[in-house]
Formats: sequence, structure tokens, C-alpha cells
Amino acid sequence: MHLKLGETSTIVVSSPKIAKEVLKTSDPTFAARPGTLALEIISYNHAAISFSPHNDYWRQMRRICIIELLSAKQVKSFGSIRNDEVLNLVKSIRSSAGKPINLTEKIISTMSATTCRVAFGKGGFDLADLFPSSTMLKTLSWNKLKLLAMRRKLDEILDDQTGDSKRKGNGEFGNEDLVDVFLRIKESGELQFPIDNDKIKAVISEMFSAGTESSSSTINWTMAELMRNPSVMAKAQAEARETFNRQKTTDTQNLKYLKLVIKETLRLHSPLPLIPRASREDCEVNGYFIPANAKVFVNTWEIERDPKYWTNPESFQPERFENNPIDLTGNNFEYLPFGSGRRICPGLTFGLTGVELPLAQLLYNFNWKLPEGISLDNLNMIENSGMTASRKEDLYLFADPFPNDFSS
Ligand code: HEM
Repeated sequence: MHLKLGETSTIVVSSPKIAKEVLKTSDPTFAARPGTLALEIISYNHAAISFSPHNDYWRQMRRICIIELLSAKQVKSFGSIRNDEVLNLVKSIRSSAGKPINLTEKIISTMSATTCRVAFGKGGFDLADLFPSSTMLKTLSWNKLKLLAMRRKLDEILDDQTGDSKRKGNGEFGNEDLVDVFLRIKESGELQFPIDNDKIKAVISEMFSAGTESSSSTINWTMAELMRNPSVMAKAQAEARETFNRQKTTDTQNLKYLKLVIKETLRLHSPLPLIPRASREDCEVNGYFIPANAKVFVNTWEIERDPKYWTNPESFQPERFENNPIDLTGNNFEYLPFGSGRRICPGLTFGLTGVELPLAQLLYNFNWKLPEGISLDNLNMIENSGMTASRKEDLYLFADPFPNDFSS
């Protein structure tokens, strides 16, 4: 689909074949991101990785974040922090037994506390107060005055974090955290593309919002889908209870069915249903001329529920991924929850690991019920409009605790 909005050409890609051409065959022609005023202000003039042009600065910052925060090794090393925060979540839900719980709010606060601790160390971090009530991506539709006010608040919080002399070894175990690492390499002058405090601020606020928003949204949608699909809930719950009791640990590695449930949630509820890209030069796709700087959105929402590729696409059936080679790494163009190509999400392992443990513990510890007046047929499944497709309404549920050994 081609939309001409003012001077700008906008192309929407809604088939796996063309998605492959854009994201893989033509790579890196479409490895740029569309720019907007909102991004310029909030991402410190496109210094955040997600919104940076495709250049050596982007490569450098992406590499640092992967090595210091997002690699499988780092993600594993944050295990005790994740456990700690998830146990706080379980305790807080146990103490609200008998009352309706705003699960959305609790999950967001668990995920933001976890991201803060792994990326910025102890000592608290007020970004959680700024997001997610006004999530980073929601700001894309704001006007300039509102954006500038938000940026001033962001500056206040982040300047405190990047005040060089105040920190060092602020990480959980007395080690460096991501902010320490950036400050150290900024000072060392060893970088090919020198960074300043604005660039550090852009990337750390990005890690915070990316680490919190997409994972919280995925947990919320999974719980909502499980409430609407009691047989899936029963199976996932039986697996978590049987596995944890047998292992006597809350290691999620063997929760095979839960992993299928998460995959199915990501098919129907990708946090980023339109992957935003831009063309870096004039090119041709499927016989059509695409001018330089055209905005290109890969519509994974449409592709991931297209009956040509998915049987009963609207129904929630984790079993469809059983014995099915389709994976999450961007090589199957009918299923792209983390994108594909050189701009594929670098937070895949961090994100999935962060989603599995809280979900497993919610299933292991509680029997869940819908509030009075809400049934599985009328549970609201409406998405927010905008770039991210989180649930529009907070999810309220009742939790009946099971007596368990391995979580409190
Ligand atoms: C369920 C969890 C997540 C999902 C579904 C998700 C999805 C996505 C998608 C679809 C993209 C665009 C990829 C493309 O253009 O091809 C993206 C980019 C990105 N994501 Fe994630 N994400 C998740 C978690 C995370 C986490 C936990 C982090 C970091 C803490 C993160 C950081 C980023 C960054 C920095 C980019 C921009 C990459 C670039 O432009 O080079 N994401 N994500």
C-alpha cells in the first residue's frame, strides 16, 4: 500500500514475500528509521539506538549495549535480580488475596524495577515515575510543548544519573553497570565515535523503556489470553506446578508449553505491530519504484493473522508452534515479533527471559479468576492505538494463592 502524506511517501508492507524483500534481500537499503519531531526531541536528536540512522555510531552503541547488558551471558548473570523482583511481585499479590488486583500495574512495576537494577544498579531511578504512565512511544503523537516539558523532566532525572563523579561501581554487585561503562569509555577517548552525556542519556532511557514496555505488554496479553482460554491456562499451570515441584527450583528452561504460549501471544499481540523503517536510497521492490527517504512500515499485525499462513488465525492455539520450525529470530517472514535483519531487536534474549519467569511464577503460585460481571467472552481485548499495541485497559484479576514451597 502506498500513502502519500504531504511530501512523504509511506509504504505499508503486508505480505511475508515483500517483508523478506525489504528486511532481508534489500538489506541495508531499509535499515534506516523514519524521523519525526517527537523522536528528535525525546531521543536526543536520534541518539537512541532504535531511532538512530544506520551508521557507525548506531553500530558502536548497539554493540556496547549487547556486550554489557543484552547478551545471553549478561542476561544469565542477572538471574538473582530477576528472581528477587518476581518474588516481590508474588508477595505483593499474596498480600492482596481476596481483593481485585490491578495486575497490569503490578507487572509494570516489577519489570521497571528489574530493568533499573540490571542497567543502572542500585540507588533507585526515577524514570519509572515518568514512564510508563506516559510511555516513550506514546509521546510520538504529542505536540512540541508537551514534548519539551517531557524532555526537561527526562534531563533532570538523567543528569542526576550521569553526574560522573557521583557513581562508579554502582552496579548490584559492586561492579560497573551500563551507565558506569558508558561514562568510563566516554572518558577513555577510545571510541571511534565519541559520545557525550546526551548520547548516554538517550541510550539509557531507551534501554529502560524498551526493557519495560514490551515485556510488560507481553505478560499482560498472555495473562488476558490465558483467562479467555481456560484449557490453555490449565495446561500451562499444570506444567509450571509439576515442573517446579519436581525440580525444586523455579528454573524456567523446561517449561516447553509456556514457551509456546508466549510465542502465540507474540503472534497475536506483537508489542510493535508496525515495524518502522525508511529507505536510504532510491530502490525497487516487487517492481515498484521506492524513492529515498520513504517511510516503510512492515505490518506484522496483518501478516501474523493472515489466513493464508495461519489456520484459524484469530484463535489462541499455542499448539500451532509445536513441532513447528518457525522461530523468533526473523528468518520466517510470516512471523516477525522481533523484526529481522541487521536492525532486529537486540533485546530478544533479555525480553523473553524477563517474560518467562514472572509468568511461570504467576501460574505456579495462584489460581486466577475474573472479577464479577466479566466473563471470558466479554473480557476487553482492545489495543492501544499508536506505535505500541499494549492492552488499552488495565487487567484486573482475583488471585487465589496455592500453598507452594519454592517461591516465598
Ligand atoms: C517481548 C519483548 C520484545 C519485543 C517483542 C521487541 C520487539 C522489537 C521489534 C519488532 C523491533 C524492531 C526490529 C526491526 O526493525 O527489525 C525492536 C527493536 C529494538 N528493541 Fe526490542 N523488543 C522486545 C524487548 C526488548 C528489550 C527487553 C530491549 C532492551 C532492553 C529491546 C531493545 C530494542 C532496541 C534497542 C531496538 C532497536 C534496534 C535497532 O534499531 O538497531 N527490546 N524490538
